[in-house]
Amino acid sequence: MLAGKTLAVLGVGTMGEALVKGWLESDLGLSVRGTAKRSASRKRIEALGIEPSPDNVSAVTGADVVLLATKPQVVPSVLAEVGAAITPETLVISIAAGVPTARIEQDLVPGVPVVRVMPNTPAVLREGMSVLAGGAAAKEEDLALAEALFSPVGKTAVLDEGLMDAVTGLSGSGPAYVYLVIESLAEAGVKVGIPRDTSTLLAAQTVLGAARMVLELGQHPALLKDAVTTPAGCTVDGLMELEEGKLRVTLLKAVVKATQRSRELAP
Ligand SMILES: NC(=O)c1ccc[n+]([C@@H]2O[C@H](COP(=O)([O-])OP(=O)(O)OC[C@H]3O[C@@H](n4cnc5c(N)ncnc54)[C@H](OP(=O)(O)O)[C@@H]3O)[C@@H](O)[C@H]2O)c1
Repeated sequence: MLAGKTLAVLGVGTMGEALVKGWLESDLGLSVRGTAKRSASRKRIEALGIEPSPDNVSAVTGADVVLLATKPQVVPSVLAEVGAAITPETLVISIAAGVPTARIEQDLVPGVPVVRVMPNTPAVLREGMSVLAGGAAAKEEDLALAEALFSPVGKTAVLDEGLMDAVTGLSGSGPAYVYLVIESLAEAGVKVGIPRDTSTLLAAQTVLGAARMVLELGQHPALLKDAVTTPAGCTVDGLMELEEGKLRVTLLKAVVKATQRSRELAP
């Protein structure tokens, strides 16, 4: 489905780079071009093994898929620049947090299909989570093409666009929350005498293993937690500390705040 197609990535930054690396690793037969703002970024794009385009308009000209990957605040100016050069034969995918498909469609010629996607950075290791939502002109085959692009770099789900800010607050920002958890667990290991490198390994592998248990066994996390918690054992004491520190409500509030911020970012 993707072999022989040309993809233009407008704004090869942190997320754009993670996706490009994941795509190149997946060997999709795609031809990828990319742009950035500063001329110094050209070398970085070249080093990725893709073609740096001199400007956004040249990048989108003749491209089958255009990926908008700049910061949300920059999306309107990029669209003003490239809007007229994009035809309805091109699929536009935006990963910009908080930018509705309707806002993107405003600056495009009528009929250009737009799919909004919220990926996350583990896409670089092809362990990303990407949620897709189609805009007004997006047909089933457009969503299928977007899914074909994102499924090689992790898991995908299709949801109503109304949930995209919530998705941003959960899986888009989520890796940062989990890194904080891993960092804190590793620090705790050091506190109780484990060498730092080993402690980080213990913390990260524990998070990875626990995540795989949830995904692959399909059991409720509460049941899996109960299986680790023996009566009058050690884990229940640790859990009591987490409850006292309000871990649950803190994570809940983090997702709610990030969701609100995603709504505020809408240009
Ligand atoms: N980071 C994440 O974990 C994550 C997750 C999900 C979604 N997103 C979304 O991904 C988008 C990018 O986020 P990011 O974290 O990757 O930001 P970033 O690292 O700042 O990358 C943005 C890129 O856009 C380039 N740029 C700025 N103005 C441009 C223009 N006029 N034309 C072409 N390129 C331009 C920048 O160029 P220079 O390099 O030259 O400055 C930079 O490479 C955001 O909309 C964000 O909501 C990010």
